[in-house]
Amino acid sequence: MLPLSFKFFSIVSIICLWTSILYGQNHPGRGVRSKHAMVVTAHPIATKIGVDILKSGGNAIDAAVAVHFALAVVYPNAGNLGGGGFMVLRLKNGETNTLDFREMAPENASRTMYLDSYGNSTGNLSLQSALACGVPGSVDGMITAHRKYGKLPFTSLIEPAILLAHQGFGVTARQADELNSEAENFQKANPLGCAFMKTTSWRSGDLLLQPELALTLERIRDSGRDGFYSGETARKIVKCMQSSNGIITLEDLKNYKSIWRAPLRSNYKQFDIITMPPPSSGGIALLQLLTMNEFQLPTTRGLDISEREHRFIEFEKRVYADRATYLGDPDFTVVPVDQLLHKSYLNNRLSQFSPAFATPSVDIQAGHIPTVESEETTHYSIIDAERNAVAVTTTLNDSYGSKVVVNGAGFLLNNEMDDFSIKPGIPNYYGLTGGEANSIAPRKRMLSSMTPTIVTYHDSSLFMVVGTPGGSTIITSVFQVITNVIDRNMSMQEAVNQKRFHHQWLPDEVKYEPGAFSKKIEQDLQRKEHVLIPRESIGRVDAIHVLPDGSLEAGADYQRGDDTADGY
Ligand code: GLY
Repeated sequence: MLPLSFKFFSIVSIICLWTSILYGQNHPGRGVRSKHAMVVTAHPIATKIGVDILKSGGNAIDAAVAVHFALAVVYPNAGNLGGGGFMVLRLKNGETNTLDFREMAPENASRTMYLDSYGNSTGNLSLQSALACGVPGSVDGMITAHRKYGKLPFTSLIEPAILLAHQGFGVTARQADELNSEAENFQKANPLGCAFMKTTSWRSGDLLLQPELALTLERIRDSGRDGFYSGETARKIVKCMQSSNGIITLEDLKNYKSIWRAPLRSNYKQFDIITMPPPSSGGIALLQLLTMNEFQLPTTRGLDISEREHRFIEFEKRVYADRATYLGDPDFTVVPVDQLLHKSYLNNRLSQFSPAFATPSVDIQAGHIPTVESEETTHYSIIDAERNAVAVTTTLNDSYGSKVVVNGAGFLLNNEMDDFSIKPGIPNYYGLTGGEANSIAPRKRMLSSMTPTIVTYHDSSLFMVVGTPGGSTIITSVFQVITNVIDRNMSMQEAVNQKRFHHQWLPDEVKYEPGAFSKKIEQDLQRKEHVLIPRESIGRVDAIHVLPDGSLEAGADYQRGDDTADGY
């Protein structure tokens, strides 16, 4: 029997949700403001749950845990139990830490598991089969984070998600469209049916009920880690694997562990950037981009906006070439972090830079260092009243991951194995290529682009919490949003609203959201021989900026998603 307080809580949440969408964020250029605390997530219900946890005395980590489980229910295309992610946190006393709860290759994974006897790719086994699943990290990650930093009892953090899964929630128009477009994939991956399948089309407001997921969440509530990585849930995962060619075993699940890792830190102008180390490529790449942006590069005339766009594109090519060569799981491959971030190395990387022309990607290789990865991920940013800050990016990889729902347990499994390099030169789902450093090995973590980041002033006061989904475009979106605020003086919401563009070295083309470039900039870039390809939205950035008076301004990507900010 569900407690009355949670029923009340649910009704209040749903009323507040639409109020927030209708009145809170319809001001392009001005984000939701609050005095004490703020939560920004991909779904209004998850945002509301985070705020309620903060108001009831929880800290930012408590709110993050509650948001994570809520997103697994209300935002199933990326919120998850069956995926993984990264958390970057900074406490009010200045302590910083990061938690790697990235998925891990199963023990029986092998370097050539997605290749045929001729060494050719076997198609999309790394994306659309149980064989695409890495061992999930999210549940261990949330329990580990809560154990170290949480204040409220774990049960109180997972209970709102249990309620939502039992009682259901009305899907948004966007979610209805997404569920309809995946109907065939769900059918193929789940012959026994699942909560996301229905005999008629989904429509905005339809109730999504997930009773099996609710029971899984209850097992986690009652038994903690053992409620997922052993016992009934683990047996259901393994049964799902055995019925569909997957290789995750009970042993793999038992052995999964999240890892606390020292954050990557660097300066940008008067700011300190605190971000995620490998197996994220995002932190290193972001710091490389920001450092390059501080160099005084030659200009043909006064530095104008198109030169800024041109510079960014040229930086991005070089940074993604390094990513493809040097980055992988640091527990399996030596990642030359210091060298990759060294100013003289980065200066050297720009020796071919021409203010007048695009350098073709074929002429760009990774830098020389002597010694030595649908875009459905989701990000949430939280600051509590004491100024503890948390940035979490989490993913199933593709939208709804592998589309495989664990029968009887109600949650989706990731297809994160595709973030490994299945063979040098063969691009993954995001068109990214890689090499030895990101090859498949048992227990290895696949390289990620997720870039949860916290920015402070040099005097250590908090400035920004930021991150986004978007596969390979995550890094360039975070880079552009940070520079929009710091260099262009935009408000947090303006910086998020701003149209984005992206270059990842290969293919040699600039993907851009229509409107990212004025006609003049477009012509300038084409004259410099950049190949410009329009595409649909890039990223869904959810960020918070601490304003000079100490109040908070959110940047919720409500133009690109159902993303919502709320605070008090
Ligand atoms: N699955 C997308 C990433 O981790 O970069």
